[in-house]
Amino acid sequence: MGAVDWDRRLFDELIPLPDGTSYNAYLVRGSERTALIDAVDPAKGAALCEQLDAVDRVDLLVVQHVEQDHSGAAAAVLERYPKARVLSTPKGKGMIVDHLGIPEERITAVDDGETVSLGDRTLEFLHAPWVHWPETMLTYLREERILFPCDLFGSHLATADLYAVDRARVHEAAKRYYAEIMMPFAKSIRDHLRRLADYEIEMICPSHGPIHDEPGDILEAYRHWTSDPPRNLVVLPYASMHGSTQRMVDHLVESLTERGVGVEPFHMAVTDLGAYAIRLVDAATVVFATPTVLVGPHPSVVFAAYLTAALRPKLRHAAVIGSYGWGGKAAEQTQALCAGLKLEWFDPVFTRGLPKQETYSALDQLADWIAKRHKDLT
Ligand code: FEO
Repeated sequence: MGAVDWDRRLFDELIPLPDGTSYNAYLVRGSERTALIDAVDPAKGAALCEQLDAVDRVDLLVVQHVEQDHSGAAAAVLERYPKARVLSTPKGKGMIVDHLGIPEERITAVDDGETVSLGDRTLEFLHAPWVHWPETMLTYLREERILFPCDLFGSHLATADLYAVDRARVHEAAKRYYAEIMMPFAKSIRDHLRRLADYEIEMICPSHGPIHDEPGDILEAYRHWTSDPPRNLVVLPYASMHGSTQRMVDHLVESLTERGVGVEPFHMAVTDLGAYAIRLVDAATVVFATPTVLVGPHPSVVFAAYLTAALRPKLRHAAVIGSYGWGGKAAEQTQALCAGLKLEWFDPVFTRGLPKQETYSALDQLADWIAKRHKDLT
């Protein structure tokens, strides 16, 4: 059940959705009771309610995650089925009251590992904090060996395919989704993956994007994204106002390439932040390149640095390069934005005005430094 949102192009006023998205809901009918898992984005509440016209009873509404794109129609569902109860984690209970205005007496908190019988089918609830908020949980339908993980393993991908038939396309969308939404929680996800290894899973039904009917692919991908060492890759977010920083970027890209180091520059004024985030999943080094605006970094690079720190990728090494007209603190301010990451920094390389021979030599030294640190990475 649920709805495909073909036209949505932005999430959280931040995340580009080049392929739209979907808000999936699932109806599990047992011999005695019926459960609805998740309740779509508010914008698609009417679509879910229309589907429910054909459903005479819903006894349980499972709110796995309170974020509104999965709970937007919860109040409407409860109004339609006055005897239905909401199931959530204990932390979710308070959040449902606060965020959705649903009365506490209609909500039952379930413990981690608790099961609820629908008659001939059984739902098992696995508390899974931080995928993506602290109150999140997964639901396992024992008899069918189906996992409903809400945001986890999802993809922002509008498609008429119920299942992940175009595997390459789904993999790319799922990686973008992981990078933008899940990467800050990689440590928690590793723990959840270890726990899920004890479960026989024949199908994964996320609340965004198509169903994984062969779940091995997405489980393996998540193991790589959360656990593998970073790759031999430099991401290079940059801005340039009058060309000096652009020349430095061009030189550094060439210098790194000559040394066998993978590099991808991102002109932040025009880049899709999802494309940048995807590369952050694998990159070992980030080099911020910025002109000096007044006394600090260019706002596009401020955004890149703030976003980089927020996404908490596996990065190990970093540098700031750029230019200035008369002075400033662009390097220090950029570094400060990434203070939460454990990064080894190369000395900043800055030029007043156009880059000179010594500027290019310093960039070559930076390329040497990076190549040395990447030598054992693939
Ligand atoms: Fe798809 Fe965290 O909501």
